[in-house]
Amino acid sequence: MPAPVLIRDPGSLQRCVAAWRDAGDRIAVVPTMGALHEGHLSLVDLARESADRVIVTVFVNPTQFAPTDDLDRYPRDLEGDLKLIGQRGADLVFAPDDRTIYPSGFGTHVDPPPVASRLEGQFRPTHFRGVTTVVLKLLNLTQAQIAWFGQKDFQQLAVIRQMVRDLNHPCEIAMAPTVRSAEGLALSSRNRYLTGDEPRQALALVTALKKSAALIDDGERDGHVIMTELNQALIDGGVSSIDYAVIADPETLETMHAIRRPAVLLVAAKVGSTRLIDNWLVE
Ligand code: PAJ
Repeated sequence: MPAPVLIRDPGSLQRCVAAWRDAGDRIAVVPTMGALHEGHLSLVDLARESADRVIVTVFVNPTQFAPTDDLDRYPRDLEGDLKLIGQRGADLVFAPDDRTIYPSGFGTHVDPPPVASRLEGQFRPTHFRGVTTVVLKLLNLTQAQIAWFGQKDFQQLAVIRQMVRDLNHPCEIAMAPTVRSAEGLALSSRNRYLTGDEPRQALALVTALKKSAALIDDGERDGHVIMTELNQALIDGGVSSIDYAVIADPETLETMHAIRRPAVLLVAAKVGSTRLIDNWLVE
């Protein structure tokens, strides 16, 4: 597999994608913040199958972190990432620095749709504004016809889907299933912060989600009952605190009181001091 080309400036990227587009190639992009694991790499595999050219972007986007978030300790390993991306067969890695994406005088932001103010938005009020702004820039820079995002960050997908719809962006937004460890833990860059017994406690999230999904399969239709069970299962599993544990409409993320399908169960909880999110689609 030839090593991917590493590009750090927008001008070179734009020249490269213009040549691909002229040749009639279909382009896929996988936006990431690096520190890649199998979850990210599964997106590269799907991107490869969906297009002629695959671009992976690696950029730890400062505007989606709050001052109290973990921006400084967010893992960074571009060399390791390049090796992994090379093994999966992407054509190009775009890894700009902060000043390239946000030069001095930068002043335009994408105000995210209402779906961004629920759930994660309650706990990280500025997060999705940073995500929509950087993702729109990356879609524009890469000229991709299809962009791949993980179900792991379900709300992020809902926000981005509505952004492209509202702004008439031609890029297709595709959802990749969540990649999990053999035990079921959703892979995440933040799992590396789990120590001691915490990796086991973190399984409380997926266990609680599956238990609630099974209740729905067994005929439970009361959203309140499901959410009570979901919260209780998280507590029983040993999480230290719960930010939210809900059943919601997959598009608007409004809480569902009378359950219809499709629905999505979403949780955010702390295990030790590490905040984890996970979700389960009930189709
Ligand atoms: P990051 O957290 O690096 O994730 C990049 C992509 O990988 C996202 O679409 C995310 O949902 C997906 N992903 C992460 N873990 C996954 C897993 N276990 N299974 C499947 N997919 C998984 O999400 C971001 O970066 C940023 O917000 C970004 C979109 C790049 C904007 O800065």
